[in-house]
Amino acid sequence: MKAPILEISYLIASVSFVIGLKRMSNAKTARNGNLLAAAGMTIAILATIILHEGPVPPLIYGLIGLALLLGSVLGWFTARKVAMTKMPELVSLFNGMGGACAALISLIEYPHISPGAGILISVLAGLMIGTVSFSGSMIAFAKLNGTLGKAIRLPFYNIINSLMLVAMLVLCGLMLWDAEFNNMINLYILLGMSVVYGILFVIPIGGADMPVVISLLNSFTGLAAAFGGFLYGNKAMLTGGILVGSAGTLLTIVMCKAMNRPLSNVIFGAFGGGSGSGSSDGSEKGSIKDISVGDLAVLMNYSKKVIIVPGYGLAVAQAQHVIHEIEELLESRGVEVKYAIHPVAGRMPGHMNVLLAESNVDYGKLAEMEEVNPEFASTNVVLVVGANDVVNPAARNDTSSPIYGMPILDVDHAEHVIVNKRSMNAGYAGIDNALFYDPKTSMLFGDAKKVLTELATELKSL
Ligand code: TAP
Repeated sequence: MKAPILEISYLIASVSFVIGLKRMSNAKTARNGNLLAAAGMTIAILATIILHEGPVPPLIYGLIGLALLLGSVLGWFTARKVAMTKMPELVSLFNGMGGACAALISLIEYPHISPGAGILISVLAGLMIGTVSFSGSMIAFAKLNGTLGKAIRLPFYNIINSLMLVAMLVLCGLMLWDAEFNNMINLYILLGMSVVYGILFVIPIGGADMPVVISLLNSFTGLAAAFGGFLYGNKAMLTGGILVGSAGTLLTIVMCKAMNRPLSNVIFGAFGGGSGSGSSDGSEKGSIKDISVGDLAVLMNYSKKVIIVPGYGLAVAQAQHVIHEIEELLESRGVEVKYAIHPVAGRMPGHMNVLLAESNVDYGKLAEMEEVNPEFASTNVVLVVGANDVVNPAARNDTSSPIYGMPILDVDHAEHVIVNKRSMNAGYAGIDNALFYDPKTSMLFGDAKKVLTELATELKSL
């Protein structure tokens, strides 16, 4: 009787994952989708514990309870505390834990599977992919939080990495097809090689590309978990793993597309490591002019149409509430206001949407890049807040630029461009931006929250 109920619980869990994921594609339903998927996962976990066939010693229940408690408390507090800009770090950490779990399953189950069983493929694949995902994610985490600064490239790193991968696959092949090699020592050797490969795989990649790498590693973790599901014949784990695997793969492709770079270029290329051929050396310098908060308030107040371009700096400064206040002030004076959203603005997909939703900006005011680009020509003022790469015209007209070909927001087509940032420092791609030297552009230097708060005050006084 237990088995069918267990299967039904897994089916309910799987369906909740699919519906939850679907709901996450819209900011309005995302929170609810997340809760639904979490509820499905809870059902799957509880059903597995309660409906498990065969005797389970009480100590095991105690350990499971302790693990659940520790995981829930730690996960809850970290997720509540984390700043939006630190989200990629948190994702890499959580993802690494998922990979480690999948690898541990393989390590624990290996001695229990009958020799020569086809299931050995799942055990070895789960171990290899889960471990690579774990060690790779830890390196990605260290790079994102600044502990590991630059991209470290061993000489011939591409060849070394490829040889390492081939050696791992050969060892797997030997363990699968030759009983003599199928032993615990070789399993530990495979584990060690996978740890090293994960490190070698991520360490040469520049910090700027970490979000893409994390998404790729996320798909690895999903795959490793799916192998675990296959091993246990657990459908919820299988579906969950496949969903994570395919969602991670799709996200990786979407990010690469938005940056107009093939994945091979992210993994083997030089972009983001500070070695790009951009002009951060200053070769593109010209003269810049700045604008005072008072003048900007007047300019905006008497405009017909204003487009705000939010970027990473808006998120760091936590200026989402004050920008919304400015938008409302302008609208109350009859100015049409929109937000132009670039697909890779900020540090994670949907970063700007989430941020602006936090301050209750009307979703209808957010315009995607393709939709808003033709509108810049009829816009009086574009206010760029803490964005840089996503408005860099080099992507359109400088073939030597590392971001050449990346679709950008055509803000330079507007009548006036105001750029708010703290200095002339480069953005994520580490390159200079000719937009700042455009005669149409005026710089508004300062921390976004501070400067925009002053702007709101000025607007109110007009
Ligand atoms: P960036 O090009 O990184 O520029 C952000 C700018 O914000 C910086 O130039 C910085 O200049 C400014 N800033 C920082 N703190 C500030 C503050 N407190 N107040 C005001 N300004 C501040 O950002 P973007 O235009 O949003 O582009 C995103 C970049 O990340 C792209 O290169 C993209 O390819 C990359 N990326 C994004 C993703 C996703 S999925 N979003 C994934 C992978 C890569 P100052 O230091 O002078 O203030």
